[in-house]
Amino acid sequence: MKLAVLAALAAAIAAPAPARAQSAGSTQGLQDTGCVGSDGASGALFATKAEVKYAKLFSIAYHDTYKVLSDKAANGTYVLYQCGSQRPSVAGASAYIPVPVKSVAAWSTSAAAFIEALGVQDRVQNLGTSPSITSACLQQLLATVIKPFDEGNATSVDEQERNTTVVFNMPGGDEGNTDNTVLSSEYLETSALGRSEWIKYFAAFFNAEERANSLFDSISANYNCFADKADSKYNQLRPVVAWTSYAAPSSFNNNTAYWQISNAGFKYDLVRDAGARMLNASAGGPAAMFTSSAAFLAALTKADIVIDESFVSYTYDDLLKNYGVASGDAKKYPWAAAGRVYRPDGIQSTAGGLDWFEAPVVYADALLQDVIAVAHPGFAKGNYSPIWFRDLSESEPVVVVGASNCTDMYAARRDPAATCSAIDFQNADPAHPDYSGVSASQTGDVVHDVSRSGAASRAAALQAAGSAAIAILAAVCLI
Ligand SMILES: *[C@@H]1O[C@H](CO)[C@@H](O)[C@H](O)[C@H]1NC(C)=O
Ligand SMILES: *[C@@H]1O[C@H](CO)[C@@H](O)[C@H](O)[C@H]1NC(C)=O
Ligand SMILES: *[C@@H]1O[C@H](CO)[C@@H](O)[C@H](O)[C@H]1NC(C)=O
Ligand SMILES: *[C@@H]1O[C@H](CO)[C@@H](O)[C@H](O)[C@H]1NC(C)=O
Ligand SMILES: *[C@@H]1O[C@H](CO)[C@@H](O)[C@H](O)[C@H]1NC(C)=O
Ligand SMILES: *[C@@H]1O[C@H](CO)[C@@H](O)[C@H](O)[C@H]1NC(C)=O
Repeated sequence: MKLAVLAALAAAIAAPAPARAQSAGSTQGLQDTGCVGSDGASGALFATKAEVKYAKLFSIAYHDTYKVLSDKAANGTYVLYQCGSQRPSVAGASAYIPVPVKSVAAWSTSAAAFIEALGVQDRVQNLGTSPSITSACLQQLLATVIKPFDEGNATSVDEQERNTTVVFNMPGGDEGNTDNTVLSSEYLETSALGRSEWIKYFAAFFNAEERANSLFDSISANYNCFADKADSKYNQLRPVVAWTSYAAPSSFNNNTAYWQISNAGFKYDLVRDAGARMLNASAGGPAAMFTSSAAFLAALTKADIVIDESFVSYTYDDLLKNYGVASGDAKKYPWAAAGRVYRPDGIQSTAGGLDWFEAPVVYADALLQDVIAVAHPGFAKGNYSPIWFRDLSESEPVVVVGASNCTDMYAARRDPAATCSAIDFQNADPAHPDYSGVSASQTGDVVHDVSRSGAASRAAALQAAGSAAIAILAAVCLI
């Protein structure tokens, strides 16, 4: 139902998906799909190179017949050499992989999402955590061609892993029993575009740099357009967003409930770029942790919007109860008084897996568009409904995606973002009920840095100019 609204909006603003998705069977953007001949390889084989612009946690270096890929967080060094060429010797290499790879396996849902965005899912032999896969076409492939990892049987998993050229895994998930495992740390990146840019990391295995570059250029241009427009329109009225979660007592936590407010870097980045402010739950670490609901609620007093990421499925009333909000007390909390409570579980697989761990990792522009829609209702003309964020207080329904929703199993998945340049951003209307209680003052309790991942020099200028000049500068720069 929500997708229908989205489709209507996309049509209304005449917005073809910004990224050109490859159609099934196309070899466009894939180089050197053949191996080097027996006469040996010489000269530079990799005509199109990937250059890392936003991501901090991986690097890629090109040599004549091989490339060296490093996951700096996981300390992985992967030597990708053109098949048929002499295998090089590289100090500290974690694995040597002949490319382009013809068969791969992946444990993480984000790796699967990157592979599908590149349109190379025809190379996938096995997928892990397969019931949680939400992409319609990967669900259909899992029902027909791709074998799920035989997760109940370690011997069998081992056989499956050895039977593919490369196994993508997350740090900590690897048994260390094969020499073809490649780790990826996209989830640790501190910017949304940094996460997306890992498409270049995965592309290197398929010699699909051309596809990755063109897709990422399109995502980052669209993202920066959204961020620029949000910056110029909403600098004076920026709600405070908190990303929260509740863990019920269970055997995993010694039967003691706890509450968290996330400090994840990419969320600060997104919230700022959406023209909003992130609740500073202070302290380092990935999240501020609370063992009493009273302390948690006290920390949430300044939040205008709550994005609940609890691993449960529940109603708004359940949430208020779990958070410890007594009946009649909702007006004490701006987010509860305004009913601005969202969950990123708007798209789910038939088995209840969340698309949140797939598509938004790749398509940072669509993700930012969603955060803007949550922070600034009515930002676009028409009734824009976020793709992944579901308004829990309105009991918005989940959109369930199944294998039957796939139209072309081997086509590259499309970027669901609208084309930002075609959207006429509306001014924030202070009279809108969602803004009531949103404070214009920007205290040290929340992050109000306007520096942007995509505009380092402008950010430096803004910081130097001081906050009083921010609105003026932004207005001048963005015309
Ligand atoms: C990577 O190497 C650094 C420096 O040697 C070390 O501090 C860090 O713990 C290593 N990380 C992992 C995940 O092995
Ligand atoms: C586990 O997999 C191995 C290898 O495929 C097979 O021989 C064995 O019978 C399986 N064990 C069980 C309990 O299914
Ligand atoms: C190994 O891969 C081939 C296809 O490349 C497949 O036919 C076979 O079933 C696989 N074997 C195992 C144990 O996964
Ligand atoms: C688990 O809870 C019990 C009872 O509240 C407590 O005595 C014990 O110290 C706790 N254990 C840990 C590891 O926190
Ligand atoms: C968050 O709050 C802490 C404690 O008040 C402060 O030290 C820190 O600088 C703040 N962080 C940001 C990014 O504003
Ligand atoms: C998926 O397909 C079903 C059955 O055709 C349809 O009712 C549903 O609206 C589709 N869902 C999406 C998200 O397109």
